[in-house]
Amino acid sequence: TDPALIRNFCIIAHIDHGKSTLADRMLQLTGVVEDRQMRAQYLDRMDIERERGITIKSQAVRLPFTALDDETYVLNLIDTPGHVDFSYEVSRSLAACEGAILLVDAAQGIEAQTLANLYLALENDLAIIPVLNKIDLPAAQPEKYAAELANIIGCEPDEVLKVSAKTGVGVEELLNEIVGKVPPPVGEADAPARAMIFDSVYDTYRGVVTYVRVVDGRLGTRERIAMMSTGATHEMLEVGVISPEPTKVEGLGVGEVGYLITGVKDVRQSRVGDTVTSATKGASEMLAGYRDPKPMVFSGLYPIEGTDYPVLRDALEKLQLNDAALVFEPETSAALGFGFRCGFLGLLHLEITRARLEREFNLDLISTAPNVVYQVIMEDGTEHTVTNPSEFPEGKIDTVHEPMVKGTLLAPSDFVGPIMELCQGRRGVLQGMDYLSEDRVEMRYTLPLAEIVFDFFDQLKSRTKGYASLDYEPSGDQAADLVKVDILLQGEAVDAFSAIVHRDKAYSYGVEMTKKLRELIPRQHYEVPIQAAIGSRVIARENIRAIRKDVLSKCYGGDISRKRKLLEKQKEGKKRMKMVGRVEVPQEAFITALSTE
Ligand code: GTP
Repeated sequence: TDPALIRNFCIIAHIDHGKSTLADRMLQLTGVVEDRQMRAQYLDRMDIERERGITIKSQAVRLPFTALDDETYVLNLIDTPGHVDFSYEVSRSLAACEGAILLVDAAQGIEAQTLANLYLALENDLAIIPVLNKIDLPAAQPEKYAAELANIIGCEPDEVLKVSAKTGVGVEELLNEIVGKVPPPVGEADAPARAMIFDSVYDTYRGVVTYVRVVDGRLGTRERIAMMSTGATHEMLEVGVISPEPTKVEGLGVGEVGYLITGVKDVRQSRVGDTVTSATKGASEMLAGYRDPKPMVFSGLYPIEGTDYPVLRDALEKLQLNDAALVFEPETSAALGFGFRCGFLGLLHLEITRARLEREFNLDLISTAPNVVYQVIMEDGTEHTVTNPSEFPEGKIDTVHEPMVKGTLLAPSDFVGPIMELCQGRRGVLQGMDYLSEDRVEMRYTLPLAEIVFDFFDQLKSRTKGYASLDYEPSGDQAADLVKVDILLQGEAVDAFSAIVHRDKAYSYGVEMTKKLRELIPRQHYEVPIQAAIGSRVIARENIRAIRKDVLSKCYGGDISRKRKLLEKQKEGKKRMKMVGRVEVPQEAFITALSTE
């Protein structure tokens, strides 16, 4: 296709503002899906089918559209990756487009997350088309929200399109607006091929399907390709476009969007942000933007039932097929048994992974408190990388370095005070502040990553009634006064509860943890001291008093079957106990004490 007739765009929208419904109308209007085959959320349904291994996920649909000028254009609708909170991956899929539809529910107005993605789109120099959806709703306030959108992106209120994805009103006009406002792709047709990977998914039947946007040159079917970040070469088995079913083509030229199948079995060999080129006449320079996914947050994942360990291992391997950023290695904990130390891009990534393991693989898991990676330099000059608090070295420590992030917070200006208070409490340093409009402010902080991995998001949401959004990116390391706090039961450290914290917070961590555990661990036949300690120095202590628990004393008389039942019940209860030294700790205590709430 002539690049002048191509328009690549994406839709930025908050959940439920109507992205899937709008895509449905576009499929229908362009005749890609016939009316009688139409079903709600066509592309989403394909997603479900893909999970069953039937079709390929449609990350980019090609829509032929005859515009007002009677030319037939190719509109490529590029979907942002499922895990939208990974700003790096979102920014890669935005980089594959020249324009973005900013879709906002006319009864709700713009939401914080949408705004963060809008800024990413602006950073990528995309043409923005502001659109209000659901104008058919009685509660819609199109005038009010058109003014808000116009103010944020700096256009006139009457430039904001008004559509109903449900009824189809205004959708054709929107397609014409895309043709008129989104610039066509530019690239060098005769240069060596360069294509950017904006998503890659593992398909049971076809191996890894890689979604690319060609920038320069051409990728043909009968060609070996090379990944520029690693130099690895692969045979090309298929090149195609999605419209809306996967359709083979001979090749993809400048500005075109499609998929490649190379027989690669592992998404880590086909990573988002990497540049694909020809293996024989390769380009010399990569497209900007590739970043090796680097795990930032670690947590131990343990099956509640020890026998589930092999299931957990298989499940992690399966998820890794579709998630290049997930890393894991076996780990044993004296308290929790066999499990895995897992590395994630951030907290949300951790939560999503954990939820998928539990839901899709039917696992019950305990995850240890998330922690970041520390560099510990000893007085004798040796250096340790610590991804698990229990590995924190003993002996004379010179300095401990922790990872820092640059955080950008957006919120209504009413919340400046509470946000500052929160960030300062988390050792944040304010770097700058700008008013984006009269009542919306952007604040920039440097913060230790460790301070935001815990409950920062929850705190931020509750202090700002859900209106603030946070985006952050890594920004090097910094030395800090950090210590390891151990929790001891009857003098024995419980590895799962060890934490690396700032010295100023060590005491409150110790007090909180010992208190929590005193509530959670039932009384035993002997007294159990619970202590928090830094090295050999105890900083907090609680006691669980001894009791004599005799379940049979409740049974007066000689009902033998009732006695047997009680004994069996007690045995059942024991199974769900973990022994820590001589102390029986119920499984529940670990789960509750380690949960982030
Ligand atoms: P996610 O897939 O969850 O991210 O949501 P989405 O943004 O794709 O929204 P979706 O298209 O699923 O629409 C959310 C709800 O809004 C659905 O119940 C739609 O039927 C409804 N909806 C979408 N567009 C319109 C519209 O123009 N008018 C009305 N009245 N309802 C709409």
